Amino acid sequence: MRKPIIAGNWKMNKTAAECRALLTELAPKVKNATCDVVVCVPFTDIALAAELCKGTGIAVGAQNIAWAESGAFTGEISAAMLKEAGAQYVIIGHSERRQYFGETDATVNSRLVRALEHGFTPIVCVGETLDEREGGKTENVCKTQVEGAFKGVSADDAAKTVIAYEPVWAIGTGKTATDDQADETIGYIRSVVRSLYGDAVADGMRIQYGGSMNAKNVEGLMAKPQIDGGLIGGASLKAEDFAYIVNSASK
Ligand code: PGA
Repeated sequence: MRKPIIAGNWKMNKTAAECRALLTELAPKVKNATCDVVVCVPFTDIALAAELCKGTGIAVGAQNIAWAESGAFTGEISAAMLKEAGAQYVIIGHSERRQYFGETDATVNSRLVRALEHGFTPIVCVGETLDEREGGKTENVCKTQVEGAFKGVSADDAAKTVIAYEPVWAIGTGKTATDDQADETIGYIRSVVRSLYGDAVADGMRIQYGGSMNAKNVEGLMAKPQIDGGLIGGASLKAEDFAYIVNSASK
């Protein structure tokens, strides 16, 4: 029913030359994918990646988007700029943005609204820290983040959005949530979406897992009913690993 979506989050990695090398190697390896395949690349790689991905079935995404249309916002990149460069997807509210760059549920919401207005497919990230999980606050944190992100967003727009559940303690640590932990929390996030938007949106929305997802654990995670794909950091930087994940999610 829900088409799986595997998205690479390159973070602050890969110069244009390195982007070219990685995508040239990746494209033939994922040519038979039946899931959606996305690479969310640094801003400086977007135009090149869009050019290289033409006709490959791989879509290109950005890792952030400005909430303003244009103007005096030094260091920000607008929806129009991303669109013209060839991005179709955009990651919003990644925990690294929340942790290091002051992103809040309110700024995530403004960015999400702007992204939807411009026809992007947003990937909204939510997830708890280790302290929050150990303190039994996982569900509360995810609920607050989802409700905050989707404030004022219509059901039609929500239906176009992907959520990535990324427990902060699993990101880049090699510590994956167990299949059951990921499935359970994603099921909970779906119930939050259900209470906001009803059955059709909740049952149709793709919710990915992210956090040290790799070639070794992809099969177990993807076998779980609530998990509709992955947002892949470290393992998206090597063509072979990322292709393995894409092809597993295509089974
Ligand atoms: P990781 O990153 O796969 O390196 O843990 C995932 C993410 O932060 O999106």
